[in-house]
Amino acid sequence: MKRKLLPILLAAALLLGVFSVSAGAAPGLGLPSLAEVYKDHFMIGGCFGADKWSGGREELFFRHYNAMTAENAMKPSSLYDQDRELDFRAIDAMLAAVSGYGNVLHGHTLVWHEQSPAWLNQNGDGSPVTRQEAERNMASHIGGVAGHFAGKVYSWDVINEALSGAPDPCDWRGSLRKNEWYRAFDNGDPGEAGYDYIDFAFRQARAADPGAILYYNDFGLDNARKANTVAAMVREVNGAWLAQGNTRLLIEGIGMQGHYDLSTKAKDVEKSIQLFAGLGVKVSISELDVKAKPAMPGEILKQAAVYAALFKVFKDNSGVIERVSFWGLDDGTSWLNLPQFGGPGADPLLFGADLNAKPGYYAVIDPEGFLQTHRRLGYDIFLGSNARAWMDAGLYHPNNYLRYGYTLLYYLLWPGARVAYWVKDIF
Ligand code: XIL
Repeated sequence: MKRKLLPILLAAALLLGVFSVSAGAAPGLGLPSLAEVYKDHFMIGGCFGADKWSGGREELFFRHYNAMTAENAMKPSSLYDQDRELDFRAIDAMLAAVSGYGNVLHGHTLVWHEQSPAWLNQNGDGSPVTRQEAERNMASHIGGVAGHFAGKVYSWDVINEALSGAPDPCDWRGSLRKNEWYRAFDNGDPGEAGYDYIDFAFRQARAADPGAILYYNDFGLDNARKANTVAAMVREVNGAWLAQGNTRLLIEGIGMQGHYDLSTKAKDVEKSIQLFAGLGVKVSISELDVKAKPAMPGEILKQAAVYAALFKVFKDNSGVIERVSFWGLDDGTSWLNLPQFGGPGADPLLFGADLNAKPGYYAVIDPEGFLQTHRRLGYDIFLGSNARAWMDAGLYHPNNYLRYGYTLLYYLLWPGARVAYWVKDIF
């Protein structure tokens, strides 16, 4: 017992320093702001859409996030009217309504194979337009959109998800998806090839908004093969650009989407962050969520542990990380809980559908503390001298855990201060 007391006290000091929970307050609003907790490290963002700001969510969103990404409203398909003209009224109104919060806006996304009007790169019969038409359409699309948002957008995902499912680090060109943009750029004169739509898109974006930081964005970049393939692509595109006498990089950032699950290894994520850092670019975790499906006993805590391990890595590498953005605010409005994306039951975010903070939130605001207490104390959680308030706030109420098939027990450390622990070994 003596040997156990020191770590408990250390954890106590740590937790008491960070948390202050008042009973009765809606936990999501009463808790420390994520953006504030990480202000010396990186921006904390979230994706937005009408549903993300409804039902009391607006306040919570802007309390915790200082950056924002449109979930859908800045994708190509959202920006054209039936006459193929750009129409920014919807997004501009949305942004105007929240301009007072002063959040940094990240643009998502200029070029993607999904949510993009077919006429940009295909004929009526689905065949690719010519290279010439594709260049004209891409230039006017990027020029029109990035031009409109110039000065308002901090950074852009210029290209989203260009790589195929079987990436080869020795052949990034051959690893590209043969998507509609690729096929149209391939449909030109001899010597013109599909792969250079990548370079073309970035150059158009730089010209349209020289102030914006230009990102390449993709998922699965904790996979070493895919990460190395992206690195090869970025190295070559930037190399060609610099060889033309430019001094600033063309691709200045790599967005790791971060759609993770319980098997994600923070170590793999870290290796890729460091690989990208070696290219001289910035890194953002651009669409973070951690899927916990199926909702089995203990998954909510495993999810918290994954979040803790990830944020430990993000903190350790914060010199290169510009922004960590969650793909949503709460489980009630997460895309992953929709049937078409495998839901319900994924519950991947830090706040529940009732907007209460989940264990993942506590893991994120103090990853070291979370990992330490969970490892050393057999997953005990120290509930400082305001233990009663913690239980009242719901997170550590025993009844909350019955549905996961395990029981939450407490022991008293000194009057008022309790340690909570689960009787099932969950990790
Ligand atoms: C998703 C949105 O969350 C959904 O609302 C929409 O129906 C489909 O797209 N990678 C991306 C995002 O780059 O744009 C996707 O967003 C999620 C995967």
